[in-house]
Amino acid sequence: MGNLFDTSLVSKIGLGTWQLGLKGWGSEYEERELIEALRFGIKSGLNFIDTAEIYGGGKSETLVGEALSAFDRREYFVATKLAGFNASASRVRKSLINSLKRLKLDHVDLYQVHWEPSIYTNITELFRELERVTKEGMIGHIGVSNFSSRTIDIANSALKDLKIESNQIKFNLVERPNKKLIETMKANNIKLIAWSPLAQGFLSGRYSAKDKPSGTVRKINKLFSSSNFEKYAPFMSELRRISEERKISIVQLVLAYEKHLEVVPIPGFRNAKQVGEIVSANSIKLTQPEIYSIETSLEAVGAIETTIGFYPKILPNFIAKLGFLFI
Ligand SMILES: NC(=O)c1ccc[n+]([C@@H]2O[C@H](COP(=O)([O-])OP(=O)(O)OC[C@H]3O[C@@H](n4cnc5c(N)ncnc54)[C@H](OP(=O)(O)O)[C@@H]3O)[C@@H](O)[C@H]2O)c1
Repeated sequence: MGNLFDTSLVSKIGLGTWQLGLKGWGSEYEERELIEALRFGIKSGLNFIDTAEIYGGGKSETLVGEALSAFDRREYFVATKLAGFNASASRVRKSLINSLKRLKLDHVDLYQVHWEPSIYTNITELFRELERVTKEGMIGHIGVSNFSSRTIDIANSALKDLKIESNQIKFNLVERPNKKLIETMKANNIKLIAWSPLAQGFLSGRYSAKDKPSGTVRKINKLFSSSNFEKYAPFMSELRRISEERKISIVQLVLAYEKHLEVVPIPGFRNAKQVGEIVSANSIKLTQPEIYSIETSLEAVGAIETTIGFYPKILPNFIAKLGFLFI
């Protein structure tokens, strides 16, 4: 079985659906609008859809399932995620079956372990069970998310006939993972799926220190601090200048740049208009001078203040679960 992302069947930009969980993103997010927007994206060729059992406590998977019911099974690739607190050999099957019920499907194309399992989990047994479930046909391909190089190695050694095909990590113009992780992934032919490719909208150019987004998710994200808006003003102006010259939006410029880095961005969205911009970004190819301008203006501003994701590996699963009630 080859790597799912080496085929031309999967779109180079996907669609993230944390927003379909309808929790923490603000009152502008509306159920019917999100379903229609997702359907529009799939019809327009963005056939890779990412969800997770924790988004809205299953709500995202349910709405994604409703959106997908309008399509033939061969028209999309759906990825979901096993929450870190359910990541053990004894719980994985039950979690997967529940996800499939919400999605109204008999298999998912990619099943990702959402974050590194707790230190009490036997990772080898977990991945052997994932391999069994894959061979039974409930999973097409195995992926991970927020995994370090070391845990990827443990997981890959546990698998007998399969390999980890992707690692979904935070990756955008202003928030980059460490180089060693990227190198391990490349050496193991593991695709980088980029979460928060628009830095949760920080990179859309829509917000400022005086006009910040609503909703807990972004209120607690240090990225939207007034000092970041001030520090990054020259960089955002440069993105605006290039995008105006190209007659595209900043979002399209950002996604085209990430595509050039050969990662798979999975932007979240609020409505069909935003999805329309994401669809068009799929066919934009940047010139070398444009890439150079983006990179040099980024180097000039330096590191951004951001919230580091905290995955409570030292907590027993039942306690870790409580920390995720708001998403
Ligand atoms: N594996 C993990 O641990 C993990 C963690 C986080 C996310 N994810 C996945 O990654 C996906 C994307 O990440 P994310 O949701 O954190 O952030 P993101 O994709 O960087 O930002 C999404 C937000 O950008 C804004 N936006 C989208 N298209 C736009 C457009 N054309 N013009 C202007 N604004 C636009 C929208 O917000 P407004 O319009 O409201 O500003 C949208 O909600 C999620 O949906 C989820 O599937 C995975």
